[in-house]
Amino acid sequence: MATTAAAVAATSVVVLDRGNNTTCTINLHGATVVSWRVNNQEQLFVSKLASFDGKKAIRGGIPFVFPQFGAWSFGPQHGFARITRWHLDRAPERLHNGDVEAIFSLMDNEFTRSIWNYQFRITYRLILREKELHFHIGVYNPSKDLSFTFNMLLHTYLKVPDVRRCQITGLQGCHFIDKTREGALYQEGREVVTVNEWTDRIYQHTPQEHVITNVVSGRKMRLHKYNFPDTVIWNPWIDRSREMSDFGDDEFPNMLCVEAGNVSAPVILLPGTAFEASQILQVAKCPYYKPTKDRLVNINYNTVGESYHSTSHTTGSFIDVVSEVQRRQMPFD
Ligand code: BG6
Repeated sequence: MATTAAAVAATSVVVLDRGNNTTCTINLHGATVVSWRVNNQEQLFVSKLASFDGKKAIRGGIPFVFPQFGAWSFGPQHGFARITRWHLDRAPERLHNGDVEAIFSLMDNEFTRSIWNYQFRITYRLILREKELHFHIGVYNPSKDLSFTFNMLLHTYLKVPDVRRCQITGLQGCHFIDKTREGALYQEGREVVTVNEWTDRIYQHTPQEHVITNVVSGRKMRLHKYNFPDTVIWNPWIDRSREMSDFGDDEFPNMLCVEAGNVSAPVILLPGTAFEASQILQVAKCPYYKPTKDRLVNINYNTVGESYHSTSHTTGSFIDVVSEVQRRQMPFD
């Protein structure tokens, strides 16, 4: 990788290039992932009206929501992390297996303390694999005596040809807060969730995996998460699209937000402790494109999920769990 930390200081984007037209672009404004191309196929939606003025949150890609989800009496909606410039800790580096990694960080500064008077440090590690993007997040509370609470969420905008044709698995039986109905609580009865109207739901205690069908090229996207108990499903539909100045009126059919986070209950971080969470997005081929002899059948993703325990928040077990996820990635493709 030619990119050096010094070169990046002068610009605002960082590109991870794995070869074969597989890239990931991160804008330092919010450490927002603004593009993820797999074999030249863009996976993320970014609005044609998105603002890149270094002030507003970028409308699309994967904004980083912290330390607040939603409206906030102390500061901007969805917190300040998505509108603050992050630091590049490690410029893109090729790993021995060909994957490419970069590490970003955000610490408290005058601006963040003027809104939220706590010391913190976030480390955001991204790894670009052949058909996957891995996100590993650590939040550290360096204070000797002050605890703080926070929400966190990866606001993933998936690019889809027609949102009405997408199905989302893994939500059946989960309770959800419906923000389109004054925050009423319901239970999901459907085996797969579809989106045919304004949708803004916080699903609680969701499993570690969702599969979203009919994303770009008719493929499936697998979202695997660790330590993110909630899943937000959002599409503004027609009327709400018109209310957003940085979103085209006709763009809602082409995006679907499936957002892994800690939002319905805050995370409490005691002095001197760390919190860790991760997400893996994986592009899968549509089964029809796969020769029969290679096709893996009878994969029970629930079983895979069940044997994937994560009770401790210590760094050691986090790495064990992540590598366990990495070892289990084969069945999907
Ligand atoms: C979703 C929220 O996560 O983000 C919605 O559930 C919100 O309520 C949406 O409208 C977009 O928020 P923003 O601040 O980027 O316009």
